[in-house]
Amino acid sequence: MSKVTVVGAGNVGATVANVLAHKDIVKEVVLLDIKGDFAKGKALDTWQQAPIDYYSTTVTGTSDYRKTRNSDIVVITAGIPRRPGMSRDDLISTNAKIVSSVTTSIMKYSKNPIIIIVSNPLDVMTYAAFKASKLKDTRVFGMAGILDTARYRAFLATELNVSPKDIQAVLMGGHGDTMVPLPRYTTVGGIPVTEMIDKDKLKAIVERTKKGGGELVKLMGTSAWYAPGAAAAQMVESIVKDENRIFPCCVKLNGQYGLKDMFLGAPVKLGKKGITEVIELKLNKSETKLLHNSAKAVQGVMKVFNKMKLK
Ligand code: NAI
Ligand code: 2OP
Repeated sequence: MSKVTVVGAGNVGATVANVLAHKDIVKEVVLLDIKGDFAKGKALDTWQQAPIDYYSTTVTGTSDYRKTRNSDIVVITAGIPRRPGMSRDDLISTNAKIVSSVTTSIMKYSKNPIIIIVSNPLDVMTYAAFKASKLKDTRVFGMAGILDTARYRAFLATELNVSPKDIQAVLMGGHGDTMVPLPRYTTVGGIPVTEMIDKDKLKAIVERTKKGGGELVKLMGTSAWYAPGAAAAQMVESIVKDENRIFPCCVKLNGQYGLKDMFLGAPVKLGKKGITEVIELKLNKSETKLLHNSAKAVQGVMKVFNKMKLK
């Protein structure tokens, strides 16, 4: 049974801890926040839910990294979220310092954890954690694709009046407005989505998906947490159970799709050793163009990060 640390006990981190506890698949969740009492309160609230919802996973809160000792998996959600008018990329200067220092602190107490990044700008924060951790690239990756695909699937379910359970899809690229939903790899109960919906409606859904995070920021004044928290917990589950599920995750590309030395969303298999395979789809010309355009946007933010010269 595993030990999972969640760093950042805010909206997303507290949700990851709560969803994970409900899954009852790990022995222990440690919730760590710079505001120590806040993490303690969130953890205690989730632990007090255990007798009602019947789970045994213990959930504790702290601001002391010694309590994270020997974590098998660490989910990093620390950082500031978007406010209306901000893009994810606007968060870089604050969050890069937070993610790098959190990763360094985590590595003092856990030798070879798997690290899942949630903090934004996601693709570059995953790169930052990879650099700070010095772990193998199969053990550091980011959560975005499950969330973005879930948004796409939810919009399609509403439009087609079908259960979201029956919609399977792949989405690639960066976690920003250049992300690339892939209708050619989208099915509804096994039927290609293009046979179920007219072109213009599908196009509108693809566009809405790309701006899906911003839609929620506008509605709530801050970014989303239920679906993001559930998505990160689903990644933890696939690792803990060694399920090798296929998810779009933000991973280091080493030549796949003609891209390297960067982290970007691509379909992968996820098991107990982390990324067990990056799946290389046979993208057509226009899909490849969109993916490379998204990679360019991420590389632009990477430049800003590299200029910060963080250790
Ligand atoms: P939040 O403000 O509710 O929580 C962030 C928490 O991080 C706060 O409790 C804060 O005290 C803590 N924190 C800040 N610096 C810290 C440090 N050095 N060490 C430990 N804890 C620290 O924000 P929320 O909504 O939970 O979002 C967290 C991050 O996740 C944001 O960067 C947001 O943009 C990102 N996000 C990413 C998504 C994705 O798909 N990858 C989806 C949703 C949010
Ligand atoms: C989201 O997509 C802001 O990344 C965050 O909800």
